[in-house]
Amino acid sequence: MTTSSIPQAEQNSKSVFATQKSTSCCYSRSLYFICATINLLLLILLQIEVLTSTLSACPWPFSDEATLHHNESITPPLIASATDLDRARSMLRDSITFLPLKDLRFAKDPMSGHTWFMSSINDTFAGDEAQHLYFPSEASKGRLLCLSASDASDGTNNSYALAWPEALPHNATLLAGLTFVSDTYYDYANLWHSKSAVLPFVSWHQSNGCTAPERWVLFHWGELRTSMGSWVRNLTTAAIGGGEVKIEDLGRYGAACFEKAVVFRHNEGAMTKERKREVYDMMRCRARAYCRVNREAGEEEEKAIRMTLLLRLGSRSFKDEGKVIEIFERECKKVDGCVIKVAWGNNMTFCDQVKLMSETDILVSPHGCQLTNLFLMDKNSSVMEFYPKGWRELAGVGQYIYRWMSKWAGMQHKGAWRDPDGDNCPHTDKLECFLFYKDKQIGHDEVYFAEWATKVLGEVKKSKLSEAEAEAEAEAGRESKRLPVGSSPCPCD
Ligand SMILES: *[C@@H]1O[C@H](CO)[C@@H](O)[C@H](O)[C@H]1NC(C)=O
Ligand SMILES: *[C@@H]1O[C@H](CO)[C@@H](O)[C@H](O)[C@H]1NC(C)=O
Ligand SMILES: *[C@@H]1O[C@H](CO)[C@@H](O)[C@H](O)[C@H]1NC(C)=O
Ligand SMILES: *[C@@H]1O[C@H](CO)[C@@H](O)[C@H](O)[C@H]1NC(C)=O
Ligand SMILES: *[C@@H]1O[C@H](CO)[C@@H](O)[C@H](O)[C@H]1NC(C)=O
Ligand SMILES: *[C@@H]1O[C@H](CO)[C@@H](O)[C@H](O)[C@H]1NC(C)=O
Ligand SMILES: *[C@@H]1O[C@H](CO)[C@@H](O)[C@H](O)[C@H]1NC(C)=O
Repeated sequence: MTTSSIPQAEQNSKSVFATQKSTSCCYSRSLYFICATINLLLLILLQIEVLTSTLSACPWPFSDEATLHHNESITPPLIASATDLDRARSMLRDSITFLPLKDLRFAKDPMSGHTWFMSSINDTFAGDEAQHLYFPSEASKGRLLCLSASDASDGTNNSYALAWPEALPHNATLLAGLTFVSDTYYDYANLWHSKSAVLPFVSWHQSNGCTAPERWVLFHWGELRTSMGSWVRNLTTAAIGGGEVKIEDLGRYGAACFEKAVVFRHNEGAMTKERKREVYDMMRCRARAYCRVNREAGEEEEKAIRMTLLLRLGSRSFKDEGKVIEIFERECKKVDGCVIKVAWGNNMTFCDQVKLMSETDILVSPHGCQLTNLFLMDKNSSVMEFYPKGWRELAGVGQYIYRWMSKWAGMQHKGAWRDPDGDNCPHTDKLECFLFYKDKQIGHDEVYFAEWATKVLGEVKKSKLSEAEAEAEAEAGRESKRLPVGSSPCPCD
């Protein structure tokens, strides 16, 4: 705020004044000192101007004394002493502007464009990656990102600034290596939301020489966060490698500047479908390797049709779980080779989930974050989803996330069943009604469930048979046996 509070007109008039002086005053040796001082001031003023404008090109990389020697035939002689330089550097330090990390001027539309997080800086779009910010870069004119951010409940209390490495803010700590900085509108605990926040970093990691960050800095609405849920932490460790995820508590520093930093603030944002598919492929591969899911798929297993009921406790659980299990077990029994498992997402570790998904061809599950695991199944596996009453009318497009995710991850979404029964909403407001229905339990329709299961089992059986045939043909042509799942190298191995 401090530099932008210097009115532009005033700055301009100062520059003009300084320029006139510097061209007219340098004829006399006695005036040399004044001239040099004005040149120095001009230099500083220009630096300040550069600091405030991210559009103009950087005229002078203010790196060391050598860069200050100008061609004497063009510019007036300028011999800056070490003291002058120290002073200039100190002034440059003083002029660094910290801005609020969360900019309330954009609270009405916090997620679009430059968002309300670091709102003065525009995103860089590169290829099919999500839009991001990178420091230091050409766009930052070689400046590093600095954060002064310890508030965990009000993002406007936290702040950011850009600074050249030669003139970091007073008392700032320089953190070496690469730092991943994330801001999400949602959270780092819910499987869906946290996966969405981490995905662009996994993608960036893969496209940039598989480098793992030294540390993560996490924000939600500009508020500092110092933990991640254990599921996403395991996933991130598996996908990016380089040991356990280290989350920095910036509260330890007055201000910290990062030698290199990547910032994502749009979750998956503008990533293309193709790119998402590649990242899900990599995460599946690396999660299986991390959890040592190295099945030697036997003939029997390859032909088996493996159905998994992944159930919830409490919100959006089935009202009559026993009956639902019974229906699917009965239909599975009717199909040669079908095996069924029943599991609850709440008491499984990350690796339990990875293993279970690697042994699932048909995932039967109510709408909810446990479905985020679907990308861990073999490609082209199937998903059957269930909703309580009221979702179709009131939940908006967000209700389709697992349908989209199935497509992105290369799975087949086999549709959804929506409970037609349940209490009626006593409110008139749409949002109140959605919240009324949101976490209600889900009933069942025995006839519909049975027919739907039969249909999906039939489709999967057919596609598995043709897959097996194609494979047998391919194998007849060459000697090599198919590699067991998880044993082939993953990207970035
Ligand atoms: C510096 O000035 C000399 C003439 O005095 C000229 O030949 C030379 O090209 C100039 N160098 C630069 C970098 O402008
Ligand atoms: C950011 O982008 C907007 C719209 O594209 C543009 O008006 C604005 O000048 C840009 N800001 C900077 C600092 O580049
Ligand atoms: C943070 O913001 C709150 C208002 O939301 C304010 O009361 C508090 O003093 C601020 N804390 C600091 C350290 O600036
Ligand atoms: C830097 O830290 C010193 C000692 O902790 C303190 O006295 C000084 O005021 C700080 N300077 C700034 C600009 O915060
Ligand atoms: C997990 O929770 C479900 C539901 O409470 C329970 O039936 C099941 O036995 C539990 N499994 C384990 C391994 O604790
Ligand atoms: C993985 O998850 C388990 C619990 O499921 C947790 O104990 C462990 O610390 C996690 N590991 C990592 C690397 O986050
Ligand atoms: C995927 O499964 C569907 C049917 O469930 C089948 O028609 C299709 O051929 C399969 N695709 C691949 C690549 O296996």
